[in-house]
Amino acid sequence: MDKIIIQGGRRLKGEISISGSKNAALPLLFATILTEGTSTLHHIPELKDVLTSLKLLSKLGLHHKKIQTHTYQVQCNNMRSYTATYDLVKTMRASVLVLGPLLARVRKAKVSLPGGCAIGARPINLHLKAFEKMGAKIDIQGGYVVASTKKLHGELIRFDTVTVTGTENVMMAATLAQGETVIENAAREPEVIDLAQALIAMGARIEGMGTKTIHIQGVDQLHACQYSIIPDRIEMGTFLMGVAITHGDITITNAKSSMLVALIEKLKEVGVSFEENERGLRAIGPKILKTADITTAPFPGFATDFQAQFMACMTVAKGTSVITETIFENRFMHVSELARMGAKIRVEGHRAIIEGIPRLSGAPLMASDLRASAALVLAGLNAEGITEIHRVYHIDRGYEHIERKFRKLGAKIKRVKVKY
Ligand code: EPZ
Repeated sequence: MDKIIIQGGRRLKGEISISGSKNAALPLLFATILTEGTSTLHHIPELKDVLTSLKLLSKLGLHHKKIQTHTYQVQCNNMRSYTATYDLVKTMRASVLVLGPLLARVRKAKVSLPGGCAIGARPINLHLKAFEKMGAKIDIQGGYVVASTKKLHGELIRFDTVTVTGTENVMMAATLAQGETVIENAAREPEVIDLAQALIAMGARIEGMGTKTIHIQGVDQLHACQYSIIPDRIEMGTFLMGVAITHGDITITNAKSSMLVALIEKLKEVGVSFEENERGLRAIGPKILKTADITTAPFPGFATDFQAQFMACMTVAKGTSVITETIFENRFMHVSELARMGAKIRVEGHRAIIEGIPRLSGAPLMASDLRASAALVLAGLNAEGITEIHRVYHIDRGYEHIERKFRKLGAKIKRVKVKY
């Protein structure tokens, strides 16, 4: 197992380019189940979750080949299996995204129920209710969702809660269903739009992605495609918050600021200035951070995936801030670790009240989930002395070579192997 060691106190400075989006890559890989032929997928990040997805596709009978860094060919001809086993689903919940494609393509699926995770219970009841409405028979047997259908048919699906993977799962299933499916209260995240664009490149008929209502007309079959996915907005935002917490000055060369409107607004409020120039998006951190309150919300609101990193910034801002988490019920695991670095945070239900201090102090820390780990890295970049972050496998699920990228920007950060 690896740990990350950071000597804090360096300003981030320089240029960086962002990897492909994890949360766009995973559904796209699973969408290839819907196709016949060999798809070529570009800008796929080198991440643990991508490897887990490819492993799952192999078990289902799809073949893949890495043809160059960040480009994979995925061939789907004959499916061998329709089961996503517990050992894979428990390491990556996004594996439930095979359910829609399998039901649509082979009309049966057996997928382990993911269970809770470090940030909340995260049920998939809304996915299952939608598939039942579209004509699937669903049973829970031995911890697995066992689903089958003669053929899915189009339906009006109105989600009670905005769900990202729920929208993606239903959208994928609907591409091969009989007739029209309308998804209301659909997720509007850029990754949902990217998946819809990829499905359209495969021959699907989809309209309205990026709005609250998506229309999908079922077609008889989908074909392979060439597709290049969007940059990772969460990685992008993490670097921008790195600028805030280190008073840095960086330029993101492939930034898409339209995906980050809510975050950029808040970063401006706390004193970060932005400039779009011919090199990309430049962000300059202030000497002293001001405070801002945030409430997480589905896109285009302030993303829950930024909450932990923003909290790290607020621990060293001048004054008191309030962070309200509305998406996941247990996404404050980073609070106790930040407290070990001297942060003053009080949690009251789903609100955290943060009283800024001048600077954090380095400490040994434990990563609990992906974005919380990124928050600890940011905290370590600010802290006086040495910060050691253990269990960094969480971070490798979603950030490509994070320590290399921060090092390129001047941070003193390294990864070492540890024997426990
Ligand atoms: C996606 O998770 C992302 N994962 C998460 O990224 C992200 O935090 C989350 O959306 C919110 O933006 C992927 O895209 C692979 P939801 P997802 O369904 O789809 C409740 C990361 O770090 N709900 O939008 O699982 C649910 O409990 C991660 O990259 C139900 O009640 O999230 C939550 O409270 C972690 N029943 C809310 O909806 C359901 O059937 C939103 O969750 C489905 C969801």
